[in-house]
Parts: sequence; structure tokens; C-alpha cells
Amino acid sequence: MSTPLVEMKNVSIAFGGVHAVDDVSIELHAGEVVGLLGHNGAGKSTLIKMLSGAYKMDSGEIWIEGERATINSPADSRDYNIETIYQTLALADNLDAASNLFLGRELTTKLGFVDDGRMEAETRKIMARLNPNFKKLKEPVSALSGGQRQSVAIARAVYFNAKILIMDEPTAALGVHETAMVAELIGELKKQGLGIFLISHDTREMMDLCDRVSVMKNGKMVGTERVEDVTEDDILSMIILGKNPKAAA
Ligand SMILES: Nc1ncnc2c1ncn2[C@@H]1O[C@H](COP(=O)(O)OP(=O)(O)OP(=O)(O)O)[C@@H](O)[C@H]1O
Ligand SMILES: [Mg+2]
Repeated sequence: MSTPLVEMKNVSIAFGGVHAVDDVSIELHAGEVVGLLGHNGAGKSTLIKMLSGAYKMDSGEIWIEGERATINSPADSRDYNIETIYQTLALADNLDAASNLFLGRELTTKLGFVDDGRMEAETRKIMARLNPNFKKLKEPVSALSGGQRQSVAIARAVYFNAKILIMDEPTAALGVHETAMVAELIGELKKQGLGIFLISHDTREMMDLCDRVSVMKNGKMVGTERVEDVTEDDILSMIILGKNPKAAA
């Protein structure tokens, strides 16, 4: 077995009296998609927010490529080549695709000015690869569809050489066609060797996209299974009953 890209070991965090994530362990390998499933409030977003640096865990350890990692901020997380696409997709609505792609990491000329021409050219290049139908380079992203916005966010991750991608409900607000496009992008990134944590409520979609799925309930990890080893019903019963039928067998 290769060294995992990410290992979260016995991670916990509480808000007041609520144990949002309680002693959870999970790992992710290169070229693997691991899905997180569970009811609203199960702790899925909170778990990945400790990896993205949005929350600081109370206890537990994070290991990245075999080394103990310290993640206290989103900047720390980025330093480990982790990119996050949040549930509420954070793009600057009034800016175009290129400005969003390079937001906070603008390309500059030798004299230190923001190099709009080069940023647009780079954006054109990467969008041509990821989403060839994407034409709205000059418009503010508020004018883009949900799927197009997703592809800008994914382009940002790919451009900055993410090794680990966190996608929190990337298809929740998308139509059928756009969901298919995001699914295709996920497949492409997986082939390139990225490891992806994917959160979704669509069990069917998760069975299609993920190599393994983990189910959480009330802050606890119910279980992790390879999708070929379980049925959709097995997964649903893990979500609802909080028990792993495989583990009991
Ligand atoms: N910043 C916070 N302050 C207080 N409580 C929080 C905070 N963030 C999360 N929680 C609580 O932690 C628990 C887990 O929430 P979380 O957002 O991780 O759930 P989730 O599994 O992502 O749910 P959903 O499917 O609805 O997105 C919930 O009880 C939530 O209210
Ligand atoms: Mg969530």
C-alpha cells in the first residue's frame, strides 16, 4: 500500500457542547475519490474544514504524504497543495473568470503590475482543456451558470497544482447537464492523480464517482467501504441507522 496523500487520525472538534466531529479517522490516496455521506449536521463539512484550515481541531492529527502536518489557516492548507471548493462557492461575483482564477495570487509583470493579458491567456488555456465550451471569459462570473462557475473554481485548483481537492456539494445547485460536466471533470482530475474528498447527498451519484465512501452520523464515523463492496441500500442504512451492516456481518 502506498503512503496516503492525507490521513486524518482521531480528529475531534466541538462547538460549545456539540461534538461536531468526534474521533474521526479517514484517509485519501492519490488518484482516489473518497465520498462523505450523512444527514444534515452529520459533521461532513466540519471534518473537511479542519483539513482546509477553516477550523482548528481540538485533538487529533493530520498527516500529508507521510508527514505530520500543521494546518492552522487556509494559507497553511494551500501550502500543502490542498484546494477547497466550498458548499457556498466562493467566487467574486463582480470579477471575470481570469480575475477569479488568480484571486489573491495575481500574475504580475516584471515591474510588479497586475498582468491582465497573461492571466487571461492562461485562463483561456486551462479552460480550453477543462471545459472547451466555456466562452464567457470577459464577463463577471455572476453571469455564469452554476456549472460554469464550478469549472472556474476547478480550474483554479488545477492551475495551482492542487494534489488534494476538497469539493463540498459541488453539484448541489446544478442541473443534469452541468452535474454531468462536473462529474467528467472529477474523473479527469482523478486520472491526473489528484486525491479528491467529495461531499454530496446524492447516494447514487456518489456510488458512480467515488472509489470509497465514508458515512458520518452525529459527528461519528459510521464506516468506510469500497463502493464495489456495498449496495446503495447498505449505504442508505449506514446513513439512517448509523450502523455498518458490513462490519456486523
Ligand atoms: N461554526 C460553528 N459553530 C457552531 N456549530 C457549528 C459550526 N459549524 C458546524 N457546527 C455544528 O456542527 C455540526 C456539524 O455540522 P456540519 O456543517 O459539519 O454538517 P454537514 O454534515 O456538513 O451537514 P450538511 O449536509 O447540512 O451540510 C452541526 O450540529 C452544526 O450545527
Ligand atoms: Mg455541509
